[in-house]
Amino acid sequence: ERYGQLLAWECGEAVLEMCRIKEKQQAGEKAAEYVRDGMVVGLGTGSTVFYTIRKIVELVKNGMKIQGVSTSKSTTELAGSLGIELVSINDVETIDLTIDGADEIDQKLNGIKGGGGALFFEKVVAYASAKVIWVVDAGKMAPKLGGVPVPVEVSPFGYRQVYKRLSVEGLNPVMRLESGQPFRTDSDHYILDLYPDNLDHPGELGAWLKEIPGVIEHGLFIDCAAEVLVGRGDSVVSVLR
Ligand code: 5RP
Repeated sequence: ERYGQLLAWECGEAVLEMCRIKEKQQAGEKAAEYVRDGMVVGLGTGSTVFYTIRKIVELVKNGMKIQGVSTSKSTTELAGSLGIELVSINDVETIDLTIDGADEIDQKLNGIKGGGGALFFEKVVAYASAKVIWVVDAGKMAPKLGGVPVPVEVSPFGYRQVYKRLSVEGLNPVMRLESGQPFRTDSDHYILDLYPDNLDHPGELGAWLKEIPGVIEHGLFIDCAAEVLVGRGDSVVSVLR
């Protein structure tokens, strides 16, 4: 009987995961419809934007001229290997549109990003873009932020001082690990994941974090996305800021 219960629970989980993947795919693919010929497109990082990138590859194959600005090594590898022309952020005048995933989004379309550790480049690219669209499954939408940790990218030099400061403020930092070692970002920094008791004022927390020497960037993206495409069941819902 216990085995049966476990199986049912696991099947439930598996079905839920399949639904989530389908929602990600729908939202990710929908975003590619916003890409126009001649655009410079910021290419986000993660499992949802993966589907956008695959669709953009089709647009390129159909003759569209699209240049991509990557937000991570993994996206560079993916987009590059599939044939999207990549350009450095330093070599473009403007990024017309950036499409990226997110970990949690509130009703004002503020978000937490960095679950995959790419928040620093993602933020630089996003704030250099004329328009930002986020693509997510429905489970990422929340009445307010705080359901997932807030990643903070920190310099390895002096990170313990930053850790202490964050602890004193009650932000409950946890060093992100990978195979038992500190996780290293694409620019070789560490990540401290914060678990604040409340996140009622994400903008204020973000501004405060930026003032701490040793903090490179944080995962609070305030007033950033103009539109969110949410995969919900069999459809995609557009939410505008
Ligand atoms: C990486 C990110 C991702 O955009 C975020 O984690 C969403 O990823 P996914 O689409 O795989 O759920 O911020 O740093």
